[in-house]
Amino acid sequence: MSCGELRLALAGCGGVVKRYRGAYAGIAGARVVAAVDANLAEAQAAASELGAGVASTDFADALRDEVDAVLISTPNHLHAEHATRALRAGKHVLLQKPMARTVAECEEILRARDASGKSLGLYMNLLDHPLFRDLRRLVEEGYLGRVALFSARLAHRGGLQWGGVGQNWRASRAQTGGGSFIQLGVHYQHLMRWLLGQTIVRSQAMGTNFACPHLEGDDLMLVQYQLSGGSLGEIQTSWCCQEEHVSLLGTKGSFHYRDNQRVEFFSECGPFEGEVLRMLGDGSLETMPQLLAPEWDDAANRFNQHRRFVENVLAGEAPEVSGEEGLEDVRVVEECYAQVEGARG
Ligand SMILES: NC(=O)c1ccc[n+]([C@@H]2O[C@H](COP(=O)([O-])OP(=O)(O)OC[C@H]3O[C@@H](n4cnc5c(N)ncnc54)[C@H](O)[C@@H]3O)[C@@H](O)[C@H]2O)c1
Repeated sequence: MSCGELRLALAGCGGVVKRYRGAYAGIAGARVVAAVDANLAEAQAAASELGAGVASTDFADALRDEVDAVLISTPNHLHAEHATRALRAGKHVLLQKPMARTVAECEEILRARDASGKSLGLYMNLLDHPLFRDLRRLVEEGYLGRVALFSARLAHRGGLQWGGVGQNWRASRAQTGGGSFIQLGVHYQHLMRWLLGQTIVRSQAMGTNFACPHLEGDDLMLVQYQLSGGSLGEIQTSWCCQEEHVSLLGTKGSFHYRDNQRVEFFSECGPFEGEVLRMLGDGSLETMPQLLAPEWDDAANRFNQHRRFVENVLAGEAPEVSGEEGLEDVRVVEECYAQVEGARG
């Protein structure tokens, strides 16, 4: 690592990277020096946009001497291989969710991290959103009272359009580690634990393939949770319908966030002045906010997870989302899939 600068390699330059890579043009102390993708055109497009000197199809180029940290955004089945190789080469790693397909793979990554002494962060883009910072404060400071119920739904119709195995890695259970739940459920399962400050004590899962026979895994899943503080949770995921929501119901208030923009919020405690939410003394919102999630490449957003990773590594601080947190998400996912398989007999 040169003084005050983190030189990065992008490993995987596909769909999600196109959404976030622009952030690196605006993060102080970050410089992308290499872009690697199995598809050379994708690597070249990323390298050209960011002024990186290396565009390659060979993962070894992400491990060159001039690279300090590798951002891994390859399909799930490559996370363990790519993260362990990068850590063993002495690179810091920021890894896309889910951390890996299985607990065993996550543990392998953690062993490589511990042996390397390098930083391993997990990229959870929901934490970019100032709204969830406010929500966490609302919970911590008691504005909702005791949170009885957390519920979230993340449903994308993408699965109806994708090709099957061999055409899209998301269709393959071997490549994803499951279906809609490992891809989508980890977001809100993570958010639930982070917002409520509780661990998952027990989960109860039902999953099926409802409308996407070309996908091997679930396109519809429903999981209920018992949490360490006594709260109950429920998360639904789907690749065949469309909607997003997050709801918290507490003894003194409630919060609802719908379709990535609309917030309804009530609390008998107030006033509250947050990052983006403002509540008057009578418990009503000052306005009914239309809250768009921040762009993934918004480097000016101080909660941007890429910016946070760079800042943390340069300051010698722990990453915002640790590998242990990633493993915990995958542990519950694995448990849920075992229940679904068990029910199938
Ligand atoms: N945080 C989020 O909300 C979010 C959203 C989408 C995807 N993701 C995660 O990001 C990862 C990538 O997803 P995506 O949507 O960008 O997929 P994608 O299929 O669009 O892109 C994956 C890229 O990896 C490349 N690739 C495949 N094998 C490779 C190899 N051996 N070496 C180098 N490159 C290789 C492909 O050519 C492709 O360009 C997945 O783990 C996914 O779960 C996270």
